[in-house]
Amino acid sequence: MNPVYLDNSATTPVDPLVMEFMLPFFTREFGNASSIHSFGQRARAAVEEARERLARLIGANSAEVIFTSGGTESDNTAIRGIAHQFKERGNHIITTRIEHPAVLASCAALEQEGFQVTYLSVDSAGRVDLQQLVDSITNKTTLISVMHANNEIGTMQPLEEICTMAHARGIRVHSDCVQTLGKVPVGMKTLPVDLASFSGHKLHGPKGIGALFVRKGVPLKPFMVGGSHERKRRAGTENVAGIVGFGKAAELAQQHLPDMATRVRGLRDRLQSRLTEIPGTALNGHPEFRVPHICNLSFEGTEGEGLLISLDLEGIAVSTGAACSSGSLEPSHVLLALGRDRRSVQGSLRFSLSRMTTGQDVDRVLEALPRIVQRIRSMGPSYSAP
Ligand SMILES: Cc1ncc(COP(=O)(O)O)c(C=O)c1O
Repeated sequence: MNPVYLDNSATTPVDPLVMEFMLPFFTREFGNASSIHSFGQRARAAVEEARERLARLIGANSAEVIFTSGGTESDNTAIRGIAHQFKERGNHIITTRIEHPAVLASCAALEQEGFQVTYLSVDSAGRVDLQQLVDSITNKTTLISVMHANNEIGTMQPLEEICTMAHARGIRVHSDCVQTLGKVPVGMKTLPVDLASFSGHKLHGPKGIGALFVRKGVPLKPFMVGGSHERKRRAGTENVAGIVGFGKAAELAQQHLPDMATRVRGLRDRLQSRLTEIPGTALNGHPEFRVPHICNLSFEGTEGEGLLISLDLEGIAVSTGAACSSGSLEPSHVLLALGRDRRSVQGSLRFSLSRMTTGQDVDRVLEALPRIVQRIRSMGPSYSAP
């Protein structure tokens, strides 16, 4: 039986068209994009073409796009770069408790250096409280970093309002948009953030390539220092093949946005509504303000790891949370921040779809999971149907 892959928030399969586009850059087009000879010029042209493609997807000017090694580096660069750039003005940063570890660890590193960080709580659906945000602002605040959509539960944040509040007070806004790029429109004209992080492998591009949008006029202290690559904003020889692949993936993602908004959302909703018919099942995340490809559910009286392994034995890949924290015995910091108790956090699964997900994939989960949940519950001591 064909495997079913519903862990697309961890990573996505590379689109064959992307791979085909990248291949020459591993063979005959191996030039260094900084070299002056024709090998270098062709590599440079390919990098700039990819930059244009990504800029088109996000409605930016290509000069506002810096290529990095991934979402993690983009988050580090944005947060630490802005904090250090404006440290004479203030040492206070605001973020949320449900950010990706790349943001949380960047903030923790700054705390070690003497910066102060406020971690906003979220409501039971994962949205930040705008009043709490305003109340947290001080005259030392230089940066607010709030993710566009959460990678575990898919909840989207009111970024436009956050930007309005921040900009009225001269504060910069960064957003981790890794889980929204290619899933919903992410336009830098309508989303007035100063900096935004992206990652290639979440939208059928290769791993190890990402980008940081830095709005024109926003000064940023470089995080990676060395040569004068990327207009002196990110040192290091460009990953030409990765950049080319990311550019192509961005172009394809743009074409598939309507499919994400209708067909993929429809598949996710069908999966969710049928699975929530299982007694003792609850949705984690906002029912409405959510990306179309993520659904996180808690199955009372189960263990997420047990469900995951049982599904895997039937050829179905899902996750218990973020890929970067799987293997850790700690319960999800995101689900705990929603106010879920530890037991319901333990019994949760994340299903994340992509434009390559089919109705048959969803049917397979719907056939297998209710049966698995029932079996696991019958083996445990604690579950009695509500
Ligand atoms: C929201 C979010 N931010 C950042 C990252 C890190 O991106 P990368 O794997 O490209 O370093 C991820 C990947 O899991 C993510 O989901």
